[in-house]
Amino acid sequence: MTRPSRLRERRRPVLGGLLALGLYAPVQASEPGGLVNQGAALFHGLSPLQGRIAGHSGWLPPATLVCANCHAAPAGRSFEPGRAARPLGRTELLQPRVRRTGPPSSYTEQSLCEALRAGIDPAHVTLQRAMPRYQLSAVECRALWAFLTRPGVSVNTLP
Ligand code: HEC
Repeated sequence: MTRPSRLRERRRPVLGGLLALGLYAPVQASEPGGLVNQGAALFHGLSPLQGRIAGHSGWLPPATLVCANCHAAPAGRSFEPGRAARPLGRTELLQPRVRRTGPPSSYTEQSLCEALRAGIDPAHVTLQRAMPRYQLSAVECRALWAFLTRPGVSVNTLP
């Protein structure tokens, strides 16, 4: 089991980087950008999420559930080709494209929640088991959507 410890090692610099970028701040509901900040914290693992492998009853350790570990490339470096998980961002989610099989599709907040909770994409195709299934509140889902589709950033990288 080398993977969880490798993931843990990567988390401290992420927090520093987010603070330096002004991307992470405790969420105040009344504050503009609060949802985007909350989504950033969830995506980068500063706020823990609950999730499991499809078909398993036990929860995975939070460090293995960090979206950025699978969906963000290190800043300034390209995403490893051939990886099943693609870099996520506004363009990736909003542009209609053929995803697995099925017709071209794009995401809405609702279909993102469905993919995260049940592993079903907008074309009703089931995601691979490598993508965890999450137990998310509506606010957590909205926050991830607000962060991932925020204007001006087409692909999210690690800080
Ligand atoms: C352990 C690695 C891993 C983690 C952690 C992970 N994903 Fe994924 N994700 C994947 C893989 C692999 C796929 C591709 C599944 C497929 O093509 O069937 C995927 C697919 C997706 C898709 C579908 C994209 C598309 O084009 O249809 C979305 C959306 C997504 N992930 C969002 C997230 C979010 C948001 C998080 C964090 C809450 C997250 N993922 C965490 C591995 C991961």
